[in-house]
Amino acid sequence: MPDTNGHNGTPAGDGPPGESKLAAVLAEAKAVQARAVEELKTTVKAPAKTDVWKSILRVKHDETPRSRALGVLSNVFLHLHPAKINRDAVAYNYTWGMGGMTFYIYITLVFTGALLMFYYHPSKVIAFRDILYLENDVPFGKLLRNMHRWGAHLMVIMVELHMFRVFLTGSYKKPREFNWVVGVLLLVLTLLLSFTGYLLPDDQLGFWAVTVGTNMARATPLLGHDGPFGPQMGMTAFNDVRFGLLGGSIVDSNALLRAYIWHCVAIPIIASLFMIVHFWRVRKDGGISGPAPMMLESEIKEPKKV
Ligand code: HEM
Repeated sequence: MPDTNGHNGTPAGDGPPGESKLAAVLAEAKAVQARAVEELKTTVKAPAKTDVWKSILRVKHDETPRSRALGVLSNVFLHLHPAKINRDAVAYNYTWGMGGMTFYIYITLVFTGALLMFYYHPSKVIAFRDILYLENDVPFGKLLRNMHRWGAHLMVIMVELHMFRVFLTGSYKKPREFNWVVGVLLLVLTLLLSFTGYLLPDDQLGFWAVTVGTNMARATPLLGHDGPFGPQMGMTAFNDVRFGLLGGSIVDSNALLRAYIWHCVAIPIIASLFMIVHFWRVRKDGGISGPAPMMLESEIKEPKKV
C-alpha cells in the first residue's frame, strides 16, 4: 500500500504534508495565470473571436456581405442604419454631414442641459444668482454653461446649413416632400428651444428679447389683442396669445416658469419625437437621396467573349 499523508489518499511528498499542499496550490495558480495571460493576448489581438463579443453580435463572424448585413440587422443600435447604402450618397461633399452633426449637437445640448438643471431654479432673483454661482464657483460651471449656450447657437446654424444643402440637392422633391415638412417643424422647434432658453438666465438680454418677442405675439391676427381682427374676436391684454405665453400680462415670474417648462420638458420631447419620424422617413424614402450610383473602374467586369 502506498504511503499517504492521510488526505484524499494522495501520496505524501518528501517534505512535511503542509509544504507539498502549498506547492500544489502554487503550481495551479501559476497555470491559471499563464492561461489568463494567454487569453488576454488573444482577446486584445482578436476581440471579435471572444465568447463575450459573440454573445453580443450573434451572427457569423466572417466578412461575407450576407453576414455583414445580418450583423447590422440583428443589433438594436446598428439596425438604425441601413444594411447597405449607396457609397456616394453619404459622401461629405454631398450631405456636408449637416443632418448628423445637428443631431449630434442636439444630444450634447440635452446632456449639458440636464447637468445645468442640477444648478438652476426657475425663480425670479434666484435664477440669476444661480447663473453667477455657476459661472464663478461651480467647478467647470463656466465651461458647462458655455457648451450649452454656444451649442445652441451652433445648432441653429447647422439646421439652416442642412436645410440649405437639402434644397441645393433638390432632396425635398418626391418622395421626400413629407420629410421636408417634418424638417420645417424641426427648424421651428429648434428656434423655439433657443428662444425659450434665452429668458432663463433672467438677465437684461433675455428679459428684453422676450419682451420684444412676446410683443410681436400680441399683433398676431385674430389671437393678439393688437392684431388684425383681434379686438373683434374679443381679445384683450388679459386673454390673448401673449397672455398665454407669459402666464400674465408682463414678463415676470410666471413667464420664467413657463419658459423653463417649455424649454426643458415640452419642446425637447416634441422635437425628439419629430426627429425619430424624420430619421425613419429618410429610411422609408429610400435612404439619403444621393447622386446616381457609380461604379469604380475595378468593379467593372469585362463582358464574356462568346
Ligand atoms: C433638428 C433638426 C434636424 C435634424 C437633427 C435633421 C437630421 C437629418 C439627418 C441625419 C438626415 C440624413 C441626411 C443628412 O445627414 O443630410 C436628414 C435628412 C433630411 N432632412 Fe433633416 N434634420 C433636421 C432638420 C431639417 C430641416 C430644417 C429640413 C428642411 C426643412 C430637413 C429636411 C430633410 C430632408 C428632406 C432629408 C432627406 C434628404 C435626402 O434624402 O437627401 N431636415 N435630416
